[in-house]
Amino acid sequence: MHYDFDQVICRKNTNSSKWDNVKARVGNADAIPMWVADGDFVAPDPIRRMLEERVRHGIFGYPYRTDAFRSATKRWILKQHHVELQEEWMVFTTGVVPIIYTMIQAFTEPGDEIIIQQPVYHPFIHAIRDHKRTLSNNALRYENGRYTIDFEDLAQRAARPEAKLMVFCNPHNPVGRCWSKDEVDRVARICAENNVLLISDEIHSDLMLFGNRHTPAAIGNKALEDNTVLCYAPTKTFNIAGLRGSCAVIPNPAIRKRFEYQLLCNNSVQECLFSLPAYVTAYTQCDEYLEQLLPYLEGNVTYLDAYLRAHMPKIRLVRPEATFLMWLDCTALGLDKDALYDFFINRCLVGISKGEGFGAEGEQFVRMNIACPRATLEKALQQMLHVYEQCF
Ligand SMILES: Cc1ncc(COP(=O)(O)O)c(C=O)c1O
Repeated sequence: MHYDFDQVICRKNTNSSKWDNVKARVGNADAIPMWVADGDFVAPDPIRRMLEERVRHGIFGYPYRTDAFRSATKRWILKQHHVELQEEWMVFTTGVVPIIYTMIQAFTEPGDEIIIQQPVYHPFIHAIRDHKRTLSNNALRYENGRYTIDFEDLAQRAARPEAKLMVFCNPHNPVGRCWSKDEVDRVARICAENNVLLISDEIHSDLMLFGNRHTPAAIGNKALEDNTVLCYAPTKTFNIAGLRGSCAVIPNPAIRKRFEYQLLCNNSVQECLFSLPAYVTAYTQCDEYLEQLLPYLEGNVTYLDAYLRAHMPKIRLVRPEATFLMWLDCTALGLDKDALYDFFINRCLVGISKGEGFGAEGEQFVRMNIACPRATLEKALQQMLHVYEQCF
């Protein structure tokens, strides 16, 4: 079937965080919401049909978790990334952020150091702070418009006895890097050599742009697998974030057991009735949706890049290799961070995520979610240009 990603659908008054909470979270109710990472596209037809059938049934009691998510995940990851996961490694969860929170509770103590790579998805930072653990920032290097990992610094941080856990964003939100096989292997090896447990958040791994290929961390090397937890979810890929379904892949049985025990202690063991069927449908029946989505997203990236270069050259797109989250380098505008965010949110009425939320390294940047119809992106860019031409 053909998906029409150009279709503009009103999301106001649908309990949408992105659209109905934009005043509280971004600061201006009139700004076009381009912040939180969900898309403005309808979900794949097989998921909608399945949900419609469930709704017609009309009884919404406690769900029973079948094993169907295991074969579905195995199939999907094999097809997407050409690695074979064992079904017994998998634990169904109600979100990737909950996996990270649970791992921190189970495997670290207050004061332990947790390594992340700023600028990075802000809940990694919050998870560390919320649990009063110590943030160890292996900040990414930014040179010539491209981000890389500072491996020397990573090795030093991992070698500290206080370092217990690393949360790796693979691929990386917000800088859009699809880490190479060599980079992923080096991260996994440094962690394993230093007994630093590795969580590889691979929630965006289906959203590979322009022919880039994703490498799942550690898989295929027993010693590395034993030290790694991988996180997958169909929620970004198929725009079903509100249905809360994800999977922790934990090859090491002792780590898996401890993780499951922590889930139990948190009473985080029951999902919404719709979560698991949507997850399974996504990973088994929706291949053609992704096949059509990726070229559409690439079209948006290309449009954005060309528009900025032609009309607003002081705003530079950090070339994305993956994800629908665009990282805009605004250094050349010469604004302090408050003036920069005011420019986007209150003057252009474009509701971006402020770069400082991803760590101080991001202060001169904003993150723009382009999982939207082209017309929405065009409107946002026209609004930006109107103000840009007055100011720069
Ligand atoms: C890197 C990353 N991890 C996790 C999440 C959210 O995961 P969940 O909604 O499953 O908790 C996001 C959402 O933006 C993300 O970008």
